Amino acid sequence: MRRIAVCPGSFDPVTFGHIDIFTRASTLFDKVIILVSTNLSKQPLFTPTERIKMIMDVTAGMDNVVIDILDGLLADYVREVGACAIVKGLRAVSDFEYEFQMALANKKLYPDAETVFLTTSTENMYLSSSVVKQIAAFGGDISSFVPEIIRESIVNRITGVK
Ligand code: PNS
Repeated sequence: MRRIAVCPGSFDPVTFGHIDIFTRASTLFDKVIILVSTNLSKQPLFTPTERIKMIMDVTAGMDNVVIDILDGLLADYVREVGACAIVKGLRAVSDFEYEFQMALANKKLYPDAETVFLTTSTENMYLSSSVVKQIAAFGGDISSFVPEIIRESIVNRITGVK
């Protein structure tokens, strides 16, 4: 049986922290679907299509990884593709309550999938898309947080180039 995992998130934009989770998930499962999903409590900087393009650029070498987009319920998507797991990165205790709540809700909606938490590598503990955008907005150096191609997209968007 092929074991499929879904790795959902806003990815607005993708960071080295996300890429670390994608890489590790791709060694644990036969297929990993990175799912650009809607978080109603966030106001995104990039469109879903732009985010997909960015993720495609940074996962080019990962053979068992595909990217998809969702404007609906995660649990329904997981059921439709026959995934056995939802993979999320867990950075710190501060993430836990929110992630635990989502894991329980998803389990209730679709009991056949488990949420699997991968602890973020220590160098990415503090890293989030929001922190990266804030630093970039104030002209800070984000080159150690995101790949160069993503850095350019963020700076261009924030400075209004495109
Ligand atoms: O990267 P984020 O913003 O923390 O990811 C949260 C996300 C997008 C995975 C979550 O908001 C989600 O699953 N959205 C899809 C809609 C849904 O199923 N919501 C209920 C989750 S319990």
